[in-house]
Amino acid sequence: MNPDMTQANASPTPAGETVLSALEQAYRGIAGDDRFVVSHGGRVTEVSPTHYSVSGLSQTARLGDLVSCRGRRGTGAGEVVRISAEGVLVAPFEKTGEIGMGEPVFNRGPLGLAPGPSWRGRVIDALGRPADAKPAPAKGPAAIGSSPVTPPAMQRQRVCDPFRTGVRVIDIFTPLCHGQRLGIFAGSGVGKSTLLSMLANADAFDTVVIALVGERGREVREFLEDTIGAESMKKSVAVVATSDESAMMRRRAPDTAMRVAEYFRDRGDKVLLILDSITRFAHALREVAIGAGEPPVARGYPASVFTELPRLLERAGPGETGRGSITAILSVLVDGDDHNDPVADAVRGILDGHVVLDRSIAEQGRYPPVNPLASISRLADRAWSPDQKRLVLRLRNMLARFEDTRDIRLLGAYQAGIDPDLDQAVRQVPLIYEALTQAPSDPASADPFADLAIKLRAGEPVHAG
Ligand SMILES: Nc1ncnc2c1ncn2[C@@H]1O[C@H](COP(=O)(O)OP(=O)(O)OP(=O)(O)O)[C@@H](O)[C@H]1O
Ligand SMILES: [Mg+2]
Repeated sequence: MNPDMTQANASPTPAGETVLSALEQAYRGIAGDDRFVVSHGGRVTEVSPTHYSVSGLSQTARLGDLVSCRGRRGTGAGEVVRISAEGVLVAPFEKTGEIGMGEPVFNRGPLGLAPGPSWRGRVIDALGRPADAKPAPAKGPAAIGSSPVTPPAMQRQRVCDPFRTGVRVIDIFTPLCHGQRLGIFAGSGVGKSTLLSMLANADAFDTVVIALVGERGREVREFLEDTIGAESMKKSVAVVATSDESAMMRRRAPDTAMRVAEYFRDRGDKVLLILDSITRFAHALREVAIGAGEPPVARGYPASVFTELPRLLERAGPGETGRGSITAILSVLVDGDDHNDPVADAVRGILDGHVVLDRSIAEQGRYPPVNPLASISRLADRAWSPDQKRLVLRLRNMLARFEDTRDIRLLGAYQAGIDPDLDQAVRQVPLIYEALTQAPSDPASADPFADLAIKLRAGEPVHAG
């Protein structure tokens, strides 16, 4: 059942309301029969800017059910976020300005999405409705229910199939495998979205699902049309909930994107799920949970935020044997560049790797501004050959020497010829940094180690071991 709430936009009159009431009464007796779209009705008893309360639905509503309110001024849809004996609390998908006391509200049950192959190339909103001014995408064979089915741990394939992203600094220092979950951590404006869009162009995937949550409306078109481009969009589905949309839409969008990704995974596809950003999703979770009366526990975040994050992210990863996989790459905004922010901390613990972007590196004009010393991929050992691993350890060592002595060298206290390792770092690290610099318009790198070797040929070779 894919509720197109806008279709219910009849203009209710007092007579219309009587009819609705009669329908409501008639349908009360046939609860549970999903042949009937309207199973239960209630009445609005309280309205606030972020929520409204409804009496009469407590016995039948379930958390996550969608409801629609037929107001005198229009129709409003929302989701049940709290149930008590007195009534249910609804977080609206749009603003509550159209909703008035006593107006009828109907329970539409859980959101059912039926993704199909033709969803590729489309941009949809958090409820699966078209957001690209085209007709609704054709429904797939089966509606996917709202309860996520995480593949059982012991039946999941193991993650051991490496792929190249085409972004040199990632492929050398934090190489990835299909089914991995990676976070890109940075403060605002450091380069998260740009790096995500470069990663979204990786050739290694059959389908790419892009969830843009809480982004600026202007950036969405730029991201999809300029950076992803028409060619890559053909195999992509974008789920968009911009910053001006309600907290409920922003909260729903990652789940919708994950359900689309799960559909393609179950068809056997290697799916890449890009989520920009998980922090804005956490903000939406916080807004809805606090509105529903949950007390904040960590820097204003209620406890449910920290159960929802793993619940969502655990759904990514390898599928069951014979199915595909969902590789998830998500951006994490670290408020005020504080990497111990509770959301960043919680997310870091769930993921299989993190890439840290540094403002100071961006300020030097080195893009993508990845700090290789602070970034790790927990599956890198499965992606590197033994030689590559030795080389990367050596490179990291050189970068660390170079960065640790930066102040000394700036003060003029460095003398060549005393420490051969440091001398080599001083000669080669600028070349390495140059080799790792990559603009979004630069071609993807098929062999990053070869690119690095070409750059270093001007200086001494970097010996493994
Ligand atoms: N690879 C790159 N090459 C050149 N410039 C870049 C690159 N990555 C980022 N930039 C520059 O950094 C700016 C900010 O990047 P971006 O929008 O990706 O940051 P963000 O971390 O997503 O920001 P926000 O927190 O506001 O979402 C861009 O407008 C661009 O000028
Ligand atoms: Mg961004």
